[in-house]
Amino acid sequence: MKIKIDNVSKSFRNNKKVNEVLKNISFEVNEGEFVSLLGPSGCGKTTLLTIISGFKKADSGNIFVENKKVDGPGVDRGFIFQNYALFPWMTVEKNILYPMKQQKVPKEDREKRLKELLSISKLEGKEKLYPSQLSGGMKQRTAVIRALACKPEVLLLDEPLGAVDFQMRKILQEELENIFLKDKITAIMVTHDVDEAVYMSDRVIVMSTDKGKIIEDLKIDLPRPRDRECEIYNKYKENLTKVLTTALGYEEVAATKED
Ligand SMILES: Nc1ncnc2c1ncn2[C@@H]1O[C@H](COP(=O)(O)OP(=O)(O)OP(=O)(O)O)[C@@H](O)[C@H]1O
Ligand SMILES: [Mg+2]
Repeated sequence: MKIKIDNVSKSFRNNKKVNEVLKNISFEVNEGEFVSLLGPSGCGKTTLLTIISGFKKADSGNIFVENKKVDGPGVDRGFIFQNYALFPWMTVEKNILYPMKQQKVPKEDREKRLKELLSISKLEGKEKLYPSQLSGGMKQRTAVIRALACKPEVLLLDEPLGAVDFQMRKILQEELENIFLKDKITAIMVTHDVDEAVYMSDRVIVMSTDKGKIIEDLKIDLPRPRDRECEIYNKYKENLTKVLTTALGYEEVAATKED
């Protein structure tokens, strides 16, 4: 077991009102496993991912990465934010080099890794451009390889392809899959998209708006790369869509309770 989420709870206080977002959330992720978190808007996906990253603290409960308790951000965990978060004043190249400089990676190794990363992401020739001069897909790829620069063992992705159009999304899903398989990275990805979850994941966890409660933990037992046309693939999608509808039902129930 690589990551353990152990009884995590988190509430926010707004104008004296307490919003209990996560209550006693627990699950484990195995080494090299790709897990997606699926769920309606506002169910606590970003909150949970940020707690796993160490940027936010849980009110109670713990996160363990390889049996070591997380008590802040670390280079063992790369993070890709919901909205890229590239530095707009830095070129592609500078953005990618930045985390390695922070980690005091020697200059020669930095340059070597940069070349390697530009090549896997097919961004060669774009290294001198600024984020504003890139397409959405290129920005996305830059964010992905920047997170990979320091070779994290765990990658946390918050809707990494949310802003990318349908066709580009498929291409990037395939590219991401190749990168993950090659480096045997353990990943937790937040997504809204059922097709993306089934295509990318070894396991899909569905959260509901009832305090983030996990209402499904489904293993996707299909060989890679996956055939989006195959019957079982589409059965998985159908099942998850049904579960998501239930997750939305929880929201309605929660809303009635407040009345
Ligand atoms: N810093 C904060 N202060 C107060 N409330 C917050 C804070 N961050 C998140 N919340 C609340 O916690 C709940 C969960 O938010 P979160 O961002 O985790 O949802 P999400 O599942 O990622 O949604 P989406 O799919 O829309 O990105 C929301 O009700 C939100 O308003
Ligand atoms: Mg979110």
